[in-house]
Amino acid sequence: MNTIPQPQPTPGDTTWFTRDRFGMFIHWGLYALGARHEWLQHREQIDADSYRRYFKHFDPDLYDPRVWAEAADDAGMKYFVVTTKHHEGFCLWDTAHTDYKVTNTPYGRDVLRPMVDAFRSEGLRVGFYHSLIDWHHPDYLVDPYIGPHRESPNRAKLNEGRDQNRYADYLHAQVRELLTGFGSVDVLWFDFSFPQRGPEGKGRDAWRSEELYRIVRELMPNVVLNDRLDLPSGWDVKTPEQYQPRSWFTVGGKPVVWEACQTFSGSWGYHRDESTWKSPEMLVQMLADTVSKGGNLLLNVGPTGRGEIDERALDRLQAMGEWMHRHGRSIYDCTQAPAEFEPPRDCRLTYNPRTNRLYVHVFAWPFRHLHLTGRDFVERVEYAQLLNDASEISMQESTGGIETAGARPEGANVPTLTLTLPIEQPRCLVPVIELYLKG
Ligand code: GLC
Repeated sequence: MNTIPQPQPTPGDTTWFTRDRFGMFIHWGLYALGARHEWLQHREQIDADSYRRYFKHFDPDLYDPRVWAEAADDAGMKYFVVTTKHHEGFCLWDTAHTDYKVTNTPYGRDVLRPMVDAFRSEGLRVGFYHSLIDWHHPDYLVDPYIGPHRESPNRAKLNEGRDQNRYADYLHAQVRELLTGFGSVDVLWFDFSFPQRGPEGKGRDAWRSEELYRIVRELMPNVVLNDRLDLPSGWDVKTPEQYQPRSWFTVGGKPVVWEACQTFSGSWGYHRDESTWKSPEMLVQMLADTVSKGGNLLLNVGPTGRGEIDERALDRLQAMGEWMHRHGRSIYDCTQAPAEFEPPRDCRLTYNPRTNRLYVHVFAWPFRHLHLTGRDFVERVEYAQLLNDASEISMQESTGGIETAGARPEGANVPTLTLTLPIEQPRCLVPVIELYLKG
């Protein structure tokens, strides 16, 4: 009996998605020049005229998407999702529907097409994030919750003449551009609906989401679509962000395809002075933890206004890549372990159903022994090795541990497979023990 959660089939093709597991999120726009979070226009209530200083100075002269694509590929990432347009409304491609686009900045060239080409040539799948929210478009209704005018006493005056329906037409037209002008798009990542915020909240009606959904499925039927259009169905993947779910993500009590999106630091967009950068070890643990619960990790970089991924991110990508180089097979094509295998303390289990191998990700290296309790470990593990160097790990059946004399520990009569480990932790961020299962 299969004791691994089985999500319902999705409208889009998530077979490659749940195999690849690890992707790069890219938040890049005019906010990179502000260098203090992609919501700076909202946080500092910067009106369009004043925010235009970033448009007038956007000139990422060091931009080379081949460098970005190589960094993602070397990190072991298999797909990328880039902000074609974030809430600020600025577009990274030569769209026919607005002048607020990169080709009209001093840089003067489309940055999206070369990015798609570069990542595709590195073998990564292509994903587009597209903001439903737009703080620049003349027809987007100003609301009291989100945006540069949320506190303005003149909201009613600002909204005179605005027509949210016309904005939805613009939104749909740009989505058509993105799904017809860049070849096959594998992921479409809308962000975000907020109908629950109050009477002026925006959801499916503001975007005409049902119509937009039909356009998406007509133009790119297999695309992996996220869950932020405020539609009860049709989405393929749930998208928790900035926390680690405690277990496989469910909707209505049923397991679903899910992807955690996370940042290296406290900001999605480039933030020069933000210092809460996660350690490489924490990042690898988050990746293993996510896959151990059947999820994907979409890890974000915020490139600078010069067009580079900054060193703090590059250093972490490189460290993760070194780990993935030897440990990738404990992530790719892996999922949550069958329920009968209980992970030891400070460990996570991932499992590859095709090779029938279990992976023990050891977050805290124990002294000498690791006890795998339960009859299934005793009866079904055929061989064990350290994944980093394929060195054998000896194992023996015991009744709860290697005891000499004296009182037997708590649970001593539980069937246990005890692994004998080297005293020194293997020189890698998170050691992994590969367990070959019988049959
Ligand atoms: C949050 C942030 C937004 C970011 C998104 C990514 O909604 O506010 O800026 O693009 O997360 O999931």
